Amino acid sequence: MGQHEPILLKNMSHPGYTGSLADYERTGGYQAVKKVMGKVSPAEVTQLVIKSGLRGRGGAGFPTGVKWGFLPKDYQGLRYLCCNADESEPGTFKDRQLIERDPHQILEGIVLACYAIAAETAYIYIRGEFVLGARILEKAIGEARRAGYIGKNILGTGVTVDIWVHRGAGAYICGEETALLESLEGKRGLPRVKPPFPATHGLYNKPTVVNNVETLANLPHIINRGPEWFAAIGSPPKSTGTRIFCVSGHVKRPGNYEVPMGITFRELIYEHAGGMRSEKPLKAFIPGGASAPFLTPDHLDVKMDFESVAAAGSMLGSGGVTVMEEGTSMVWAALRLMEFFYHESCGKCSPCREGSSWLVQTMRRIVNKRGRAQDLETLTDLCKNIAGRTVCAFGDAEVAPIMSTLKHWRPEYIALIHEAEAANLLRPQPVGARG
Ligand SMILES: Cc1cc2nc3c(=O)[nH]c(=O)nc-3n(C[C@H](O)[C@H](O)[C@H](O)COP(=O)(O)O)c2cc1C
Repeated sequence: MGQHEPILLKNMSHPGYTGSLADYERTGGYQAVKKVMGKVSPAEVTQLVIKSGLRGRGGAGFPTGVKWGFLPKDYQGLRYLCCNADESEPGTFKDRQLIERDPHQILEGIVLACYAIAAETAYIYIRGEFVLGARILEKAIGEARRAGYIGKNILGTGVTVDIWVHRGAGAYICGEETALLESLEGKRGLPRVKPPFPATHGLYNKPTVVNNVETLANLPHIINRGPEWFAAIGSPPKSTGTRIFCVSGHVKRPGNYEVPMGITFRELIYEHAGGMRSEKPLKAFIPGGASAPFLTPDHLDVKMDFESVAAAGSMLGSGGVTVMEEGTSMVWAALRLMEFFYHESCGKCSPCREGSSWLVQTMRRIVNKRGRAQDLETLTDLCKNIAGRTVCAFGDAEVAPIMSTLKHWRPEYIALIHEAEAANLLRPQPVGARG
C-alpha cells in the first residue's frame, strides 16, 4: 500500500489533540516562523518553496513558489495574500478538516507566505456554510495574535502580518480566484477577464497571491524539514509531497486520506477506503471533484499524480474522488452534476449561462425517457461551444461530466432514447398528427 506518514493530518491523529495554540506549539508549531523571520530573506523562502516542487492543491496545480515569483519585485505599495477556503467543489471536504482540526497549521502557512511575498494583510475567504470553521479560525487568530505570531512586529522582527476571516455568501464561482477577489471587495462574485492576473492586479488592484488552504498548510513543514525532504515524497519531480484525497460514494470507508502522490486509484479505493461497499463492482469514478471527467475501471492503475491523470484524460483537480458502483445510471449521474453547474453558473458569459440551461433541459429529457435521436448531437455540440469559450474554467468544468459519460457510456444514453422512441410509438397520437 502507498504509505507515508501523514504530514498535514498528523497532529489531529493524536488522541486529545484540540488544535489549540498550546497543542500546536507542543508539536513544533510556529517553529518555521521562528526559523525564517528576520533570518532568511523573503526571496530565499520563495526559492525553498520552488525547490520543494509544491504545486497548488486548489485545482489547477500551479507551482506555488513560481506563482509568488510573478509579483512585481520593485513594487513598494500594498500586496495581499488570500487564502482560498471556499472549498466549493462537490466531493471535496479536506480544507474543512484542516480548518476545524488544526487551524494554526494554516495560520503559520499564511504568515510564511505573507513574509515571502511581503504582504502585510491576508484574508481567509471561507465559504459561508463553514460557520464552525470560521469561528475556529477567528479564535485561533486571537490566540496567535496574543502570542505575537500575528500582528505588528512579529516576534520582535519588525515584520507585520495581519489575518482576517471573510465569510462568503455561498456561491461555487467564488472559489474561482478572481471571483473570490471581486466578492472580497464587496461586489458580486463574477470572474475577471485575465490578463491582467492577480499577481499584478489583484485585490483592490494590488499585487495579490491566492492560495488554497492545503497548499498553505504544507509550508511550515517544508521550512522545518527542508525542500529536499518534501521533493523526495510522492512522484517527483512534478508531483511532490502528499495529498489529501476525499473519498466518497460507494466505498466501505469514505473519508479523507493523506497519501503520497503517485499511488494508484486502486490502492486508494480498495486499500485505504476499504473497497466497494457491496458485492457490486466499481463502475466509474470521478478523480478530482465534479469538474474532472469520469474515469472507468480500466483507469484504476493510473498513478495519482498530475501528469498521469491528465494523460488518462482527466485531472486531479481538488482531490475529491467519488466512486460509483455497477448499477449506477451514468446518464443520471451526469444530470445530477449538470444540475449543480446550471444552478451555480454565475451568468457572466453567455455560452455558460445559456448553454447550461440547454444542457440541463436536454439531459432531463433523456433521463425522463422523452429523448430524441438528435439529442446526443445537440449535447456534443453544446459542450463544444461552451468549453474554452468562457472567462473562467467553469465552462470546461460543467461539460466534463456529460462529455466523459458520452465517451465511456454512450450506449446508456442510446438505450434511454430507444426506450423513449418505443414509448412514443405506443402513445396515442393527436388526430391528424400523422398528416
Ligand atoms: C469554478 C472554479 C471554482 C474553484 N473553486 C475553488 C475552491 O473552492 N477552492 C480552491 O482552493 N480553489 C478553487 N478554484 C481554483 C482557484 O481559482 C485557484 O486556482 C486556487 O485557489 C489557487 O490556489 P493554489 O495555487 O494553492 O491551488 C476554483 C476554480 C474554478 C475555475
